[in-house]
Amino acid sequence: MSETFAAMAPRYDVLRPIKSADRARLQAMLRAAGLTADDLVVEVGCGTGRLTMAMASMTRARLLGIDNEPRMLAVARAKSGEGRPSSIQWDAGSAYRLPLGDSQASLVLMSMVVHLLKQRTRAFREAGRILKPGGCLTIWTFTHPYIDSFYLNPFFPSIPQIDRARFPDHRVLERELSRAGFSTVTTTIEEQVGEVSLAEVVDRVRGRYISTLTLLPPLEYRLGLQSLEEKLAEDPGGSLTQRTEWAIVTGRMPTGPE
Ligand SMILES: C[S@@+](CC[C@H](N)C(=O)[O-])C[C@H]1O[C@@H](n2cnc3c(N)ncnc32)[C@H](O)[C@@H]1O
Repeated sequence: MSETFAAMAPRYDVLRPIKSADRARLQAMLRAAGLTADDLVVEVGCGTGRLTMAMASMTRARLLGIDNEPRMLAVARAKSGEGRPSSIQWDAGSAYRLPLGDSQASLVLMSMVVHLLKQRTRAFREAGRILKPGGCLTIWTFTHPYIDSFYLNPFFPSIPQIDRARFPDHRVLERELSRAGFSTVTTTIEEQVGEVSLAEVVDRVRGRYISTLTLLPPLEYRLGLQSLEEKLAEDPGGSLTQRTEWAIVTGRMPTGPE
């Protein structure tokens, strides 16, 4: 459970809408996994289920979203009420103790989750336990160069220091996946560039749309928000460029005894 995500749950999807680049990344991941209707895809830390729901229209595989924050999961459950694809299920659970038996899943996704885990290798071992031989764990996270050039850094100078400490470098993740028993580990880096209107930036920051904003010294948060509000008042049609760099780290479970 997390106070931050409990508070964020009602507005999470509005503040962090799924983009076409997110859909393209999901498509590429599902295509590479070569899934059938007999396969199970698990999103660990699914939150409001925005990615799990998007996957439902892309694959015939069954989908299971797991999260340890009841309020995030409640949004996911409500969203999939009427017209809900019958192939999606939601379950409360921890990344360290997944509510599944051994060797059930063909693919596990952790998107924007590893920076929140205190014992990552333990969580990766647990993902390995529920994966079938040859199954994959895919991690989506941010690179350190991205953190260093994050578009809000000029307004909140502590962000890079806070997030460099939280977000593991992809080389660290590769080592941890190997230690957790994954045999083939690869990383791809993907860039995504977009313009965000100043009005949307102010709305995002007011809603503390990323957990980092809840970790800032309160005065820094207030001053940064004030500066963005002034910028918006001066230039109501203005925008900021957001350049995102994703690290996509994938580990495959061995197919048999090594
Ligand atoms: C930034 S959100 C990402 C949600 C979703 N993956 C997405 O990309 O939209 C992180 C989610 O991970 C969940 N989470 C954090 N630690 C967890 C843990 N130990 N076990 C299960 N879920 C966890 C949080 O509750 C939150 O919903």
